[in-house]
Formats: sequence, structure tokens, C-alpha cells
Amino acid sequence: GKEGYPHFMLKEIHEQPRALRETWAGLDMDYVSKLGKAIAEARRVFITASGTSYHAGLILDYLLVSLAGLDAHAFNSSEYRKYIKLVKEGDILIAISQSGETIDTLMATRVFRERGAKVLAVSNVVDSTIPRESDYQLYTNAGPEIGVAATKTFTTQLMILTALAANAALHSGGMGKEAYSLVLNELEQAPDLVNTTIINVEARVRHIAGKLAVKTNAYYLSRGIGLPIAMEGALKMKEVAYVHAEAYPAGESKHGPIALVNQEFPVVFTVTDDDYLDPLEGNVMEMTARGAYTIGILPSRHYAKLGKVFTEVIQTPDASPYLLTIIQSIPLQLLAYHTAVLRGYDPDKPRNLAKTVTVE
Ligand code: M6R
Repeated sequence: GKEGYPHFMLKEIHEQPRALRETWAGLDMDYVSKLGKAIAEARRVFITASGTSYHAGLILDYLLVSLAGLDAHAFNSSEYRKYIKLVKEGDILIAISQSGETIDTLMATRVFRERGAKVLAVSNVVDSTIPRESDYQLYTNAGPEIGVAATKTFTTQLMILTALAANAALHSGGMGKEAYSLVLNELEQAPDLVNTTIINVEARVRHIAGKLAVKTNAYYLSRGIGLPIAMEGALKMKEVAYVHAEAYPAGESKHGPIALVNQEFPVVFTVTDDDYLDPLEGNVMEMTARGAYTIGILPSRHYAKLGKVFTEVIQTPDASPYLLTIIQSIPLQLLAYHTAVLRGYDPDKPRNLAKTVTVE
């Protein structure tokens, strides 16, 4: 049941501290280390998934390339045919699927295995089809997700994939022992920080949802590791609130998308990567100059510098970018949820969508 919540989506958003705690408890670190080594030694690493799971895959891609220095490439599983000639023995495919049943991801898994790649499945459903057809399995322990919109399965995927990437980086030499321990310690704190985030952002998010509820478009912009989180925020907004939302690298906004921005156009920024603060601030100013309604999701340590440049700020607890991906997902989920409810839609049953897509 919904345990007193009006919708499964809200219940599942609030369940994330528990889902993260149980995912962490269920992780066999020796096994994750073994997989990290296999990834570091692979000829090439492919990552495949659809929808929300693809956004988790993009985070893994970002970390394997930039942290571990590996030749990794993420793609939408429906586009697997492009890579057929490239796949060889010695390659690894990481197939991410909450349900373990998504047909496109299953097809990619089969084709890659036939061509000699090893497949690691990351799923929330033990013994579902994709894990059964794979060489290695890692499971999130989020519990069943009833809402069509993926929420707790996404943040638990991020937890597992970040731990995996840190292990790969340790084996590749991209990361030292000390830095590795810091990442792992932070991940362990995810349940508590997510709990704090849910409590802290609720009122602010409701207020902003009230503004978004009467809009037809929104942009979600970021730089660096925050980009897949912005993409996921835009997907949530589209699928449950039916507000047309698009995500771009903030630097790309000047190359076309900004043409659409006028008075009160909503632009959500996720501020995640410390490296990109100055150019990101520039992008916010460009939007402000056109009268945009800008919303900044930022960790408290950046409040002094960036707190005043946005129309609205959603402050989250401080953490490194590895954990901020998880933390910043929370206000974005809640923003989509509350906007949907204010617009009179049932977020548990988005039109035209099925929980599991079994047709190509
Ligand atoms: O079960 P999967 O993770 O393979 O599902 C993939 C997508 O269909 C899924 O993530 C979808 O995008 C979400 N339900 C959207 O919230």
C-alpha cells in the first residue's frame, strides 16, 4: 500500500534513505573490487541502458573516463546496432536495467555476448532476464518500485555505479587509496544526507512547483557530472507533469536553445562540479539578462558565491560531486512530483507509459 502517502511516487521518493541503506548493506565489496579490476583491465568498456537507467549509465561513463581514465562509452540500448562491428573479446558491457526486462537492453546484452564481450548486469530484480543472461550481476536493493517514474531505483543505481567506478579507478591508478576511501565513506553517508535533503528542500520545492505548474517549457542546464542529473530532472518533469523540459550542457545553451528564452522562462541549474563554477555563473547571467526565471540547485558551500545570482535557490547539504549526484536528484524528483499534482495529474500513471518496455 501507499502507507499514508497520496501517491507511490511520493512514497518511493521518501523511501530513498532506506533503499540506499539496504543497497549499501547488500554490496559485497570484495566482489565490487573484483569487478572494478575486470573493468580496469578490459579492452574497452561499453555501458548500455534506457531512460532513467541510461542517465545512471552516463554518470558511470563520466566517472570511468574522467576518474579512472578508461576508454568507456555509454549509449542508449535501442541504438546498439551502431557498435556491433566494434565489439571484441576482452570488452565489457555494463547493462543497467531496474526491471531487468527492458527489451532493448536485453537485445544489446545478447548481441555483445555473442561477439565475445563479458556482460555485467545492474538490476533491482534478482534473477530477471538481463541478469540471468549476463556473466556478472550487481543488485540494487531498493525494493519493488510501483510508480512508473523511476526514483529510488535511480539513486541506488548511482550508489552502486559510483562504488564500482571508484574501484575501477583504484585498479587503473586513476585514484589513490586515500581518495578512494573518501568516496566510499561519503557513499555510506548517502542515506542520512538524502534524509536531510528531503526534509530541507520540501517547502522551497513546493513554492517553485507553483510557478512551474503554469509553464509549458523549461530548460535544465549543468556542466560536468551534473549534466546527467539535469537530464534525469527534465525526464521526470516531462513524464509526470507534462511540462516540456529539455536538458543541455550549460555551454551548449548559447549555440541555439537560448533563442527560446524570454521573460519568466524557467531554467533549472544543477551546480555539481566545482571546476565549472565561473563558466556556469556566466551561463546563469545570460539567462538572467533575458528575464528568465532561474532556479539553482546548489550545495551550501557555493551559497556565498552563487546564492544571489539565481531567482530561486534550492540549497542542499554539502558533499563531493560523487555524492551530490544522488543528493541533487531529490529536489528534481520532488519538483516534478509537485508540479504534476498542482497541474491535476496522477504522477503514478503517466499517460502513454508502461513501467517496463518489452517492445522494441
Ligand atoms: O527497467 P529499466 O531500468 O530497464 O527501464 C528503463 C526505462 O524504461 C525507465 O528507466 C524509464 O525511463 C523510467 N521509468 C522513467 O522514469
